This record gives sequence, structure tokens and C-alpha cells, in this order.
Amino acid sequence: MARILITSALPYINGIKHLGNLVGSQLPADLYARYQRARGHEVMFICATDEHGTPAELAAAKADEPVAAYCARMHEVQAGLAAGFRLSFDHFGRSSSPQNHRLTQHLAGRLADAGLIEEVSEKQIYSKADGRFLPDRYIEGTCPNCGYDRARGDQCENCTKQLDPTDLIDPRSAISGSTDLEVRETKHLFLKQSQMRDKLNAWIDGKADWPVLTTSIAKKWLNDGDGLRDRGITRDLDWGIPVKRGEADWPGMEGKVFYVWFDAPIEYIAATAEWAEANGKSDADWESWWRTDKGAGDVRYVEFMGKDNVPFHTLSFPATLMGANFDGSEPWKLVDYIKSFNYLNYQGGQFSTSQGRGVFMDQALAILPSDYWRWWLLSHAPENSDSEFTWENFQVSINKDLADVLGNFVSRVTKFCRSKFGEEVPAGGRLGAAEQALIADLSKKIAAYEQLMDAMEVRKSATALRAIWAAGNEYLQNAAPWSVFKEDPEAAAGIVRFALNLIAVYAALSAPFIPDAAAKMAEAMGTDGAWPQDRAAAFETLAAGQSFTVPDNLFDKITDEAREGWEAQFAGQRG
Ligand code: 2FM
Ligand code: ZN
Repeated sequence: MARILITSALPYINGIKHLGNLVGSQLPADLYARYQRARGHEVMFICATDEHGTPAELAAAKADEPVAAYCARMHEVQAGLAAGFRLSFDHFGRSSSPQNHRLTQHLAGRLADAGLIEEVSEKQIYSKADGRFLPDRYIEGTCPNCGYDRARGDQCENCTKQLDPTDLIDPRSAISGSTDLEVRETKHLFLKQSQMRDKLNAWIDGKADWPVLTTSIAKKWLNDGDGLRDRGITRDLDWGIPVKRGEADWPGMEGKVFYVWFDAPIEYIAATAEWAEANGKSDADWESWWRTDKGAGDVRYVEFMGKDNVPFHTLSFPATLMGANFDGSEPWKLVDYIKSFNYLNYQGGQFSTSQGRGVFMDQALAILPSDYWRWWLLSHAPENSDSEFTWENFQVSINKDLADVLGNFVSRVTKFCRSKFGEEVPAGGRLGAAEQALIADLSKKIAAYEQLMDAMEVRKSATALRAIWAAGNEYLQNAAPWSVFKEDPEAAAGIVRFALNLIAVYAALSAPFIPDAAAKMAEAMGTDGAWPQDRAAAFETLAAGQSFTVPDNLFDKITDEAREGWEAQFAGQRG
């Protein structure tokens, strides 16, 4: 049994996430977590809300709420939606937690002890119209790297380059739009990442198995010359983690907080400490996931994120953890594998939070059960390139894959059995050549599915699972127990018993993708949904005489009318 630590990029607190956000980190992370648990491994699956920084401040101001209250409220909203999508976090934390305050201040202190922090008098942009300094996201302008005219002060979302606000061409205030900006002096802490270039380079070179999308982005910024320049890790904001050196005050840093991108990834660790506290565990319990000197030596750590997050997870966060271990006394667990995603587009354009364009998590759950969304999103995950949501494609996939293939199989088998043999697994008949051939075929297909799931090939895994469902359907069509029954009821009973067993196997295999439908299938068959580890035995789990029930229709087809209605409903901006 392996120990697998899984983190999903932390969703910003500023509002409800859209389906593009969901499929870029939390949902595939959940798929992987559910699968690895089903295979019998010990999994720690962590996520949290990312609560600091300008996005939180801006959103709270817009909602006319104090920022702390806004974050507390939105955390609950996001936690509820995560539960609605069946995201199986072991803990869904908050980056504003006391644990994260302590750990962030502690790691900053260690970096200072390592000589990796420099106090710099920095020129920062001050907005006379707004009467304040404008950190990162409060400033928009043109990207010096690619020319995109809506780049933010912290990063260009077009080319992923990490920026400082003073890099922007033609900067303007994101609060007031004012261009009446001036540069003033203020003191900040800088992390000397440039000193860690060789270490980071060597570390990334050792990751030969990482997806190209991940390593190419990391390497690009590592060797870009200034991609790894020293970065400011403090900000002039009220809301955030106060700058301290461990538990001690940091002279000259009064009234400043850590930069949101400094404390956010640290929350992966702090959230595990929150998990320990919430579950009556000790420090040793969470440390056994994060400290290689305290039990995490055998942990495999996998991170899931959208491609725009890759620079922070391949450069800044590892630099923090490596730097904090300068004297070898705090060996923090570094990531072993980063699964990154491209973007999901919406009907020929981008999903956009600011413009309210696309389908948001709450809206999605209001119109259809989570399994429908999980299946479509995962089977169309933007892995090798951007992908696109269209209502038409959604309708076709759901109707074909879920309703026609899986749903129809389950319903035909259980209803036929009930009508001819009652709600009991029928006795008689035996596994003939067709059944043996299918078992052989499915054994191969299941092995292929497992391999793809292990490799986090999300789309290909969905295709493999669909092929497993389709094979059962095809078998049923050919075996035609409804015809056989007329001549030879006993042979028909054998076919039906085998097909009922297939439903039990499908329940286990499908659970990572569509947990609710899978649970209904397992419940109807009276099984525990255990993974078909022992292939031969798996197809004979249900014995003659065992009772079963006919589950309610698993999936409703999406009608043209419904599709057109949603298309119209979601055409405009979110209200
Ligand atoms: O891009 C985002 O949505 C960030 N909130 C991700 C943070 S991931 C981690 F570092 F916390
Ligand atoms: Zn750019």
C-alpha cells in the first residue's frame, strides 16, 4: 500500500468558480484521489480556499462586506459546492487559518535565517485618485512580454509570465481606472530565488516523467534570464498574514502582509495541519505527510493545477521549501508529479469570471446532477490542448455515453431479470464461450484502464471506461436473453446472472468518474463497490439467490428543448 498526497490548486475565494476552473484542478484531482483510494492506497487529498490578496479585497468591497466576513461566507459557499460535485477532500481548508499564519511566518523566518531574504526599498505604484499604493492585481496594463493589453500586475494570463506591477506598459488602476499614478518608495522583503537557479534546474531535470506542458513552462521561466529574478513576497495590504520572522516582529515591516502567492501554496501544508486538528490527530500525523524526516519519505506527492499556476509550483513554492531546509534540519516534502491542464473554453470564447461568461458551479448543479457534469468535463479535460464546452457536444455525450450505453445496460438487465426471474439473481445456466471471451476481453480492458488512471491520462481513462461499458452492451445485444428465454429459460438465466455481475463490476470501475450513479448501481446489486482486483472472481461476485433491486433510471436524456433552453439561458452575462 502506497501513501499518496494529492493537492488541488486552491480556488480563489472571490466568488463561485466556473466549470473551466473546476476541470483544471479540483475535479481531476478528485478522480485520482477516488481511484487511488479504491485501489487500496492511503490517500491524503487536500484543498482550501485561497483567501488573501487583492482579489479577496476587491470582491469583499464589491459585496460591501468586511473582508474577513466575506471570506468566511464564501468559504462555506465553496465548500457546499465542492460537496455538491462530490469532491472528496480529506480536508477543505482556509489559507487564512491560524495554522497557515504560523507556518508562513515560520518559513519566512527560516528563509531569512538562510540568508535568502533581502530587504529592499522598492519603488511602488501609488494612485493619487485612489489614495493608496496599488499592489499587483490593483494594476492592469500591457504585458511587456507579449503585448496583451489586460495583463495584471502579478501575471500576464495570456503568456503566463510572472510580472511585477512596475513591469506593465501603460499601467492603470484596476479600482478607478485612473492613469494618474506615480512611483513612490516603500520597503519590502524579496526572496532571492535567483540564488536557487541551479538547485531548481537540477531538481526539474530529474523529473523526466513530468508532462511536457509542465516542464516546458518551468524551463522557460527558469532559463529566461529574469523569470527567476528575486521576487517581492510582501505587500501593503490590510488583509493577509502579517509579516513576522517566525514568532518575532520584523522591524520595518509593520503593517505589511505576505504576498498571497507566498502563503497560498504553504496552505497545502497548513491545511493538512488543519485536518489533523479537526480530526483529533497530532502534529506527527500531518508531519508524516510533509516532512521526509518524519515519515513522508515514502509519500508520493501529486499536484493538480491549470497551466497558469505552473510557474509558482515549479519555481516559487519549491524555492521556499528548499530554502527553508538550508541547514538540512527541515526537509519538507517536494512535489513528485505535477499534472497541469490547458484551458476549457465556452461556446467559442473563454469562460470568464469577471464577465460572468459560461456555466458556474452553482448554476450547473441547479440544472443537472453532478455526475453529468463530472462525466462530460473529465471525458473532455483540456489535457493536450485547450478544449471547448458546447451545449450540443454536452447533450450528445451525455445521451450517448451515460444514457444509451451505461444507463440502458443497467436498466435492460435489471428490468428483464425482474420480469422473468424476479428480484433475485437467477440460478441455472453457466458461463459459456461468449462469456469467457468477454471476461478475457474485459480483463485486458480493465488493465488498460488502470494503467491510464495511474498515469493520470484523464480523457483516455474516460475512453477506456466507456469501452468497458460498451463491451457489456454489445455482449447483451448478441446474447439476447429475451430471445433465448423463449427456448431455454435456464440458459437465459445464466446470461442474466453474468450481466448482473457486470453491473457490479461497472459500479466499482465507474465510481471515480460518476460516484453517485456508481453508488446506486452497487446498492442495487447489494455489493460494496470494491475494485475488481481478482478478475476471475469479480464476474461471479453475485451468487444465485441473492436479491437485487432495479435502480431508478440512472440518467435522463437531455432533450433538444432543454438544450436550447440552457443555451439561451447561459448566452448572456451572469446576473
Ligand atoms: O490561480 C488560482 O486560482 C490560485 N488561487 C491558485 C493557488 S494554488 C496554490 F498555490 F495555493
Ligand atoms: Zn504576456
